[in-house]
Amino acid sequence: MNIAPFKLEEFWKKYEFTTPYLLCCSDAETWGLQEILSLADLESQALWQSLGLGYTEVPGHPLLREEIARLYSSLHAENIFTFAGAEEGIYCAMRTLIKPGDHVIVIDPCYQSLVTLPEAFGAEVTSIQLKFEDQWKLNLEEVQKAFRPTTKLLVLNYPHNPSGMLLEKSTQEGLIALARKNGAYIFCDEVYRYLEVDETSRLPSLADAYEKGISLNVMTKSFGLAGLRIGWLATQEANFLREAGSYKLYTSICNSAPSEILAIIALRAKEQILQRNRNILLANLQLLDEFMERNQKSLSWIRPQSGTIAVLKLLLPLSVETFAEDLVRTQGVLVMPGSVFDLPGNFFRIGFGKKNMPDILNRFELHLQQQG
Ligand SMILES: Cc1ncc(COP(=O)(O)O)c(C=O)c1O
Repeated sequence: MNIAPFKLEEFWKKYEFTTPYLLCCSDAETWGLQEILSLADLESQALWQSLGLGYTEVPGHPLLREEIARLYSSLHAENIFTFAGAEEGIYCAMRTLIKPGDHVIVIDPCYQSLVTLPEAFGAEVTSIQLKFEDQWKLNLEEVQKAFRPTTKLLVLNYPHNPSGMLLEKSTQEGLIALARKNGAYIFCDEVYRYLEVDETSRLPSLADAYEKGISLNVMTKSFGLAGLRIGWLATQEANFLREAGSYKLYTSICNSAPSEILAIIALRAKEQILQRNRNILLANLQLLDEFMERNQKSLSWIRPQSGTIAVLKLLLPLSVETFAEDLVRTQGVLVMPGSVFDLPGNFFRIGFGKKNMPDILNRFELHLQQQG
């Protein structure tokens, strides 16, 4: 099996722990261990204090799966299988769904493994490109035209990485109707769910909305708990879930025991956790609005509809790669060039979920002014 290099994760490997000011992170502000423990209810305090460091149940702690199931309107613990982060869930799901020769439709740009893995497992992939000029909007007709009798799977990544856009409700319904007509699965990477700027625009999870829908989520992004490495697949499709779970036996086998209990604590305190994370990103978004207004000669964007990321277009007469390299060298500020997503044009991704964003934005603005 040939797998293309993972450009985005290679980018992070190079810069994440050597660059002081990260302006392109996609996770919300990280929580500390003591902060999470202070949110524990009596039952989870007892679980933490009596915790043994042995193997854990392969699908995940029963209480963890129960808490996760509460995030969905129609699912129960048996509809949930947990994995090491979102990434292992993507791997096991694609390994299960894709047989050589299957046709898969992927909306691009997206988190790279959503397209690389179907290709690596032998699928024929039709990629539908979202465009800045179309406000990153997905055209339902284009998806309709891409469907074939052999289409096994439609892959979505909404709320969207990297643009931060949402699907419209009518588009989501249209996609489900298309998939249902063709007997295809829909895999939706929903890791940025719960940070919608306007909470009334949150759509149903694909796992609730479609009988062959598979939703991916994780503690990493909206919850700000990347270090737990607890992610999950949620679906009504029992056979799929069983098979995807069997691949976990060849990857991580089971979750880390402390992570499971910390995830239970965090999920039981989800309102508090998400509210703090929302407050940070909404305040940052307001600063970004003012920043974009001040710098409209150099930059433009489609304002994101959901935290924590957005795509900016560089309007200055230099390549985004040169701009980003100079920015790191002179200010120690990291942005993510669009080439990491194979996104043509002078685009780059920023992140605005972190508490230190205002200071980093000032450094960024200084650099921008020096270019003018
Ligand atoms: C859309 C999307 N899916 C999945 C992942 C992987 O998440 P995790 O680090 O929890 O495995 C990321 C991380 O950047 C992502 O942006």
